[in-house]
Amino acid sequence: MRLRVNQTTREISATADQLLLWVLRDELGLTGTRFGCGLGQCGACTVLLDGTAARACQTPISMVGDREVTTIEGLAQGDALHPVQQAFIDEQVPQCGYCMSGQVLSAVSLLNTIPNPTDAELVAAMQGNLCRCGTYVRIKRAIQRAVEQQAQLSTDGGA
Ligand code: FES
Repeated sequence: MRLRVNQTTREISATADQLLLWVLRDELGLTGTRFGCGLGQCGACTVLLDGTAARACQTPISMVGDREVTTIEGLAQGDALHPVQQAFIDEQVPQCGYCMSGQVLSAVSLLNTIPNPTDAELVAAMQGNLCRCGTYVRIKRAIQRAVEQQAQLSTDGGA
């Protein structure tokens, strides 16, 4: 079986009913995708499927098909961090850090869909990602910073 992960086609030995989370972690060694609740309710295992957030602990390989899986390991472009990653660093968001890859990928999914979300849209999009350290205020600030940086980049690019 083949899986598109982080812009590379990988051969995997997993069966169709195996969960994407464990294929990523155990077979491909991409341990940035975390196991949290195993019930799709905490968001720690969030990855992108064709740019949209999905819970890897609830996604059998058979449901991935030929969609592109992006994990936290594949978000940067070479040495250039994604603006959301950079904003999370600039705002010093992580505390224990366990939930962070899921938080970042959910934020990227949000901005892929709504480049300039309202507060309500931001909160609605992120409410499925739990943070046991309670970093929610910094997460919100970081996403707003990423929005500003992306707007600045597009203004500079158009100048
Ligand atoms: Fe610790 Fe979010 S930073 S759970």
